Amino acid sequence: MGEARVAVLDAIRARRSVRKYRDESLNDEDLRAILEAGRWAPSGLNNQPWRFAVVRDTKVKDEIAEQTRYGEIIRGAPVIIAVFMDNEVSYDRVKDCQSIGACLQNMWLAVHALGLGGVWIGEILKNKDKVADILTAPETYELMAILAVGYPQHRKQKSHRKSVSELIFKEL
Ligand SMILES: Cc1cc2nc3c(=O)[nH]c(=O)nc-3n(C[C@H](O)[C@H](O)[C@H](O)COP(=O)(O)O)c2cc1C
Repeated sequence: MGEARVAVLDAIRARRSVRKYRDESLNDEDLRAILEAGRWAPSGLNNQPWRFAVVRDTKVKDEIAEQTRYGEIIRGAPVIIAVFMDNEVSYDRVKDCQSIGACLQNMWLAVHALGLGGVWIGEILKNKDKVADILTAPETYELMAILAVGYPQHRKQKSHRKSVSELIFKEL
């Protein structure tokens, strides 16, 4: 129990956005573990509104890459996971978006825990309908983000955060 507690907290702290990958494909077991972590995310009413498109195919990946200025990341990643919300099962847009965020974070932490690296690409949402078309997603599916995943070229990424005292606006 103690170890699990440390592992989760360490993963939360150490996970970084990884945007450059080695030219190595991802094994099915790791991919499955990432999707499994997403599957177990919490959701309002347990409605599980997330749907995934897993893309390894170079041609399709290239097409999707055209839809964002972060295309280089997508082209360089051995696999991308496009995360959609199924509006048909959505019951409250804010809560469903929050659930999808939890799903993405679960998968991102799983990526880190497996020794892989990834980045959440939101900029592509400006072309979410085009991406849905490329992936022939059902009418009710709406793109929420793309998670690019691969083996990190390096782990020197740095990031920073506001201090907790800047975040607490009131403590009574
Ligand atoms: C909602 C969201 C959208 C993001 N969109 C992009 C993106 O389009 N391109 C990108 O390179 N990084 C994107 N990121 C990654 C952020 O830039 C990154 O998480 C932030 O700078 C903190 O760095 P860290 O992840 O290494 O801690 C996104 C992250 C989130 C949560």
